[in-house]
Amino acid sequence: MGAYGDVYNGWKNDPERFWMDAASQIDWVRAPSKAFFPDDGVYGRWFADGICNTCYNAVDRHADGDRADQAALIYDSPITGSGRTYTYADVKTEVVALAAVLCDRGVGKGDRVIIYMPMVPEAAFAMLACARLGAAHSVVFGGFAAAELATRIDDCSPKCIISASCGIEPGRVIAYKPLLDGAIELASNKPDSTIILQREQTTCDLIDGRDFDYADEVAKHKEAGTDVACVDVKATDPLYILYTSGTTGQPKGVVRDNGGHLVALNWSMKNIYGVDPGEVYWAASDVGWVVGHSYIVYAPLIHGNTSILFEGKPVGTPDAGTFWRVIADHKVSVLFTAPTAFRAIKKEDPDGALIANYDTSHFRMLYLAGERADPDTIHWAERVLGVPVIDHWWQTETGWTIAGNPVGIELMPIKYGSPTVAMPGYDIQVLNDEGEEIPRGELGNVVVKLPLPPGCFPSLWNAEARFKEAYLEEFPGYYKTADAGIMDEDGYLFIMARTDDIINVAGHRLSTGGMEEVIAEHPDVAECAVIGIADKLKGQLPAGFMILSAGVDREISDIQGEVVKLVREKIGPVAAFKIAVPVKRLPKTRSGKILRATMQKMIDGEAFKMPATIDDPAILDEIKESWATHVG
Ligand code: COA
Ligand code: AMP
Repeated sequence: MGAYGDVYNGWKNDPERFWMDAASQIDWVRAPSKAFFPDDGVYGRWFADGICNTCYNAVDRHADGDRADQAALIYDSPITGSGRTYTYADVKTEVVALAAVLCDRGVGKGDRVIIYMPMVPEAAFAMLACARLGAAHSVVFGGFAAAELATRIDDCSPKCIISASCGIEPGRVIAYKPLLDGAIELASNKPDSTIILQREQTTCDLIDGRDFDYADEVAKHKEAGTDVACVDVKATDPLYILYTSGTTGQPKGVVRDNGGHLVALNWSMKNIYGVDPGEVYWAASDVGWVVGHSYIVYAPLIHGNTSILFEGKPVGTPDAGTFWRVIADHKVSVLFTAPTAFRAIKKEDPDGALIANYDTSHFRMLYLAGERADPDTIHWAERVLGVPVIDHWWQTETGWTIAGNPVGIELMPIKYGSPTVAMPGYDIQVLNDEGEEIPRGELGNVVVKLPLPPGCFPSLWNAEARFKEAYLEEFPGYYKTADAGIMDEDGYLFIMARTDDIINVAGHRLSTGGMEEVIAEHPDVAECAVIGIADKLKGQLPAGFMILSAGVDREISDIQGEVVKLVREKIGPVAAFKIAVPVKRLPKTRSGKILRATMQKMIDGEAFKMPATIDDPAILDEIKESWATHVG
């Protein structure tokens, strides 16, 4: 058995020792007396009597130690043509000043703060300033519309919102302030104040008494030299809430604690990503997603790395060589992104010719996650980059890798299409619908035996019953990942599909149920179904099928346009909803359940078995015909 087997079995035989060893790398205010507290929380809690502060571990211990002058955060923004490097000492100055501004606004331990920002360093400072004060942040991705922001405001009732005047997408500047004001207008729980970063691409008006200018307020405290100490929090206190798509339009507030998160993320940097403190690590994602939380902000800083915050796209900012330019300019050792980014680069530069313009000799490893990594993309990336390409599988709920290739322990042989093996902390099993273990090689429900390891969510924000119902009830004693997969004879896992109505569009997790709720609001739509269809670039794309209300005789193209606009306005451009097909009927079981999976297989041209319970098989032919007419 290799090093991985030794470490994995070491964890399995003595999880207490394993996690207490990992916890010794963290600076605690009061060290925990033991790792696991089985009687606390829903399924137990980690390091429950420990006291700590996440900002201290991510910033102060480096800034006050021997990393003060090391680059902590490199902002690289090809979309605005700007950039800046912040040392650990600089980050501390920025975070302390912003924490002082938050104190002025009455934010303290236990409060919530929403952060609705583009990919600017101030977004990371905002997260860390909240952590410093023991306030839980909730970052909302900039591609979500006002209504989605309002849902999150109502769910976590923030005392303050930190935002910016605008975000920048290729070819357009997105004014955030109207979206923010619209969301506050829609929400029932109004925040007391907002702090707005004015960007030169578009500034905005501030409402007297409610909106405060980020730069002015921070400057005042820098000038005054205001000090704000890190607040002691319990290991189990919430560090953040991150909303993710559930099976309805109501997103789930995934809660992350402080102690377990510190321990797990710190452990992951060396053992999973194989990086040593001081090296440059780049997660090309967005702070609005879990990858951005864990691997742009927290893990690299906790571990003493240099992290890159990239405001741009893999293509078009300015070309498909941008990633190689960033790797060369900043001497990146490890890059983590979604496969879709590489599919986009491959489409523009199929031979990877642009890479020859850059010195990528520091680059060691590419990590992919967020969606299934198709073997074609992995082979291509391996060929053009000449480094190993590592797939790993995890979720917003877990915050770090469930199955991966633990490079820092041992580079396991790669099986294409598999994110490799279970990480220590995760006892992964594959069960049938009756909850029984199934033989290796067979497709089933991928579950994790409880307890989940440190760093994973202990519950949903203010929704313990939903937490139990959504994740723990179907397979008692296990966490349901809602992914279907196969484990082979060697313990390699293959993740094949979601078992619920979540789809994955360009690495973004979206709820088709949420889109259906929006489409159904259109007055001319009587019923609808949204499915995820295969797309060469984005992995999946949402496609809506709608039955129009009786008597509607308007131009169908007008209705299609309105439905597309409605989803963009209510959910946001990130939904990438552009296909709305009128149909006469939807295929259903005799008990009335829409056969979405059958529709998806038919449209994607996959083999499918006609469900025995279908009420009328002719409906599938009608749908195929409508698809051919309206989409082609
Ligand atoms: N604010 C506002 N709008 C945003 C946004 C943001 N932060 N992010 C995306 N959008 C918009 C896009 O401009 C696009 O609008 P459009 O319909 O007017 O063109 C829409 O939302 C869909 O975005 P996306 O699906 O990302 O498509 P894209 O064509 O802009 O880019 C990729 C495609 C593949 C280049 C891009 O998705 C990508 O780089 N993905 C990989 C990295 C990643 O972030 N993964 C997520 C988790 S690891
Ligand atoms: P998110 O919570 O946005 O990170 O999305 C999590 C979901 O993305 C998982 O449940 C999977 O369906 C999918 N996913 C993430 N990483 C992978 C991967 N490496 N392989 C296959 N699917 C993945």
